[in-house]
This record gives sequence, structure tokens and C-alpha cells, in this order.
Amino acid sequence: MSLLFEPFRIGSIEVKNRFIRSATTSYWSDKRGIIRSEIIDLYRKLARGGVGLIIKGHLYVMHSGKAHVGMAGISDDLHIPQLKKLTSEVHKNNGKIIAQLNHGGLYSVADRAGPSAYVVQGHKTRALSTEEIYDIVKAFSEAAERALVAGFDGVQIHGAHGYLISQFLSRLANRRTDEWGGNLKNRVHLLLEIYNAIRGKVGNHIPVMLKINCDDFSPNGFSIKDSVKVVETICRSGIQAIEVSGGGIARKDNLRARARSLDQELTEASFAGHATEIRKAAQSTPMALVNGIRSVRCMEAILGKNVADFISMSRPFIKEPDFVKRIETGQEASACTSCNICISKEIFGKMMLQCHLN
Ligand SMILES: Cc1cc2nc3c(=O)[nH]c(=O)nc-3n(C[C@H](O)[C@H](O)[C@H](O)COP(=O)(O)O)c2cc1C
Repeated sequence: MSLLFEPFRIGSIEVKNRFIRSATTSYWSDKRGIIRSEIIDLYRKLARGGVGLIIKGHLYVMHSGKAHVGMAGISDDLHIPQLKKLTSEVHKNNGKIIAQLNHGGLYSVADRAGPSAYVVQGHKTRALSTEEIYDIVKAFSEAAERALVAGFDGVQIHGAHGYLISQFLSRLANRRTDEWGGNLKNRVHLLLEIYNAIRGKVGNHIPVMLKINCDDFSPNGFSIKDSVKVVETICRSGIQAIEVSGGGIARKDNLRARARSLDQELTEASFAGHATEIRKAAQSTPMALVNGIRSVRCMEAILGKNVADFISMSRPFIKEPDFVKRIETGQEASACTSCNICISKEIFGKMMLQCHLN
């Protein structure tokens, strides 16, 4: 049998196959950050469709860290009942589900505050005080506790894509001169505080994962060298899985090519080149790779060449929530063309997330 259908453990949970639905916000929660019933329907379909592990679209841990309209929250007990319905639908259909915890930082709608004042999309922003940073750390740990009450199997810290944690890791967005900024040891401080605070609340037996950039793709910004060091540090601290992604706050798309692998079988996976370096740093910590992966051939190569333990995908599951079952019955590649119409300005957030090329 293909390795793709072999189970694999992440801490205390056994994932039935090597497929992860990478966190994907539906942009469709109500004003209070409560998820709508269409979102629950989608997660039921994903679980029925055979994916081993689902990572819920990002959830804000405090209201001031809400990154966009339609983002779901886990900042208050009022968010729990609908999330509980969602996790129970996934479990009833033999799936596992992780809550992705996030804070928008400089991207937040109500309070554009991050490591330092930095112009983002033309908006004025401000630097967080130390007291506010500790409030955020506490909010992450309380959100993790709420995630367990809501029935999630674990949590993933969102440390990628230019949001708050990724902003602190970036020497461009983080110009602080105190213990939270400057050298990489200080820039990783927030991530470690958050990780330790979550562990303090939920204990050691619940999987705590991290999504991290292999590269911000910004000139003189967070690089593969920095990423390797952060992964070494967080794995030593006991994180139970790493998901490798890319793209930070000052990204330049023309720099993405440096993360690709020269290996023909792996080129489809946008960050496979950098992932091989992160793999060495992560050692035995389970690792997932996301971005661009579409064909079974590439998936098999990623596992066979020991680049990662899990194949993580987002857009293919928007097109075909049952993509894993389709692979099991012989489909060789995703029908997703990465056209990005689903996230175009005219559509995203105006209706429930869906593929428009059916
Ligand atoms: C509609 C949409 C929503 C997304 N929401 C999130 C999110 O909530 N958290 C996150 O870490 N990444 C999010 N992403 C990024 C994906 O998880 C993934 O990293 C990216 O789409 C690349 O993978 P793919 O090529 O398989 O789509 C989102 C992507 C899309 C298309």
C-alpha cells in the first residue's frame, strides 16, 4: 500500500493517513466571530472525504487580534457551542481536528499593533507595550484551553504568513530594542512564551503544532537560515509537529523560487528545497509540507524521499473536499488549478468559500 495511506502519530493522536487539510479560513463567520452552519457542513464533508487531519481556519485569540471580517474567534466562551458542533461532526465522521490559533498583529482590523510601528497596506500602526505582549501570551493559552473544551484534538500556533508571531520573527517588522527584538534569540521569545503558556494550560499530552515560514521571501528578512534555527529551538522545547509554509509581511513573489527543489519529482511543491533543510533541524519531530502540491506523484516523492511525513493542502480541498477518497480510488491529481478566484476581492467573504470553476 502507498505510504500515503499509512497512519502516523502526532504526539498522543494517531492520524489515519498522511493527508492534512491545511488551515483555510472560510471568511464566513458572523460579526461576533461565531461560525455559521455552512462552515460546519464543509467540515463534515472534509471528514467524510477521508482527510486524516483537518486544521481549522485560523481563530483569533483576542478580539483586538482579529485579522479580517469573517474570521472566526476563540477568544470568548460564546464561540464554544458552534465550534463544539463542528468538532463533533468531524469526530462522528472518523476525522481529527486541530484549532489554529492566531493574532493578526499589524494586520488586525480594530487595533493595528505589532512588534514595531510599520506601514502595512498604507495604514498607520503602533508598537505593543510589554504588558500588552503578556496579555496576548495569556490569550493564546486561554484560547488553547477553550479549544479543548470545544472538542479539538490539539492546537496549532500560527507562526507563518506575516501575522503577529511571524512579524516578531522578522527583523524588518520587528525593530524593538528590548528583550522581544534585535537578535533572533529575542525575536523568537514571543513564540516560546506562547508555546510554554499553552503547555502550562493544556499539559503535555495534547498535540501542540506550529506553522512556520521557511522563508519570508523579503530582501534581508526572515530567511531559511533563521527558520532552521527557530525550528531547532522549538523542537527542543517539545513542539509535536511542524508545518512548513512561506511568505511574510514584506514578501516579494519573485524571491519564492529560492525555496523550490531542483529535484524534478519535487518541483511542484513550492517549498520542497527549503523543507529538506528544515527536515534536518526538526529531526524526529513530525513535519508537514504545504503549498502547490497537487499530484500523487509529487506526494509520493515527498514521503519517499523523506522530505516530510505529511502532505498538507488547502485549495485542492476547496475544489474537492473528498480529494483523499478520490486518490484512494485512482485519481492522480487535484482538479484545482490554483487560479485563486476563490480568494479574489469580488468573491472572498461575500459568500461561503467555494470553487468557482466547477
Ligand atoms: C481561502 C484560503 C484561506 C486560507 N486561510 C488560512 C488560514 O486560516 N491559516 C493559514 O495558516 N493559512 C491559510 N491559508 C493558506 C493555506 O493554508 C496554504 O498554506 C496555502 O493555500 C498553500 O497551500 P495550497 O497550495 O495547497 O493551497 C489559506 C488559503 C486559502 C486559499
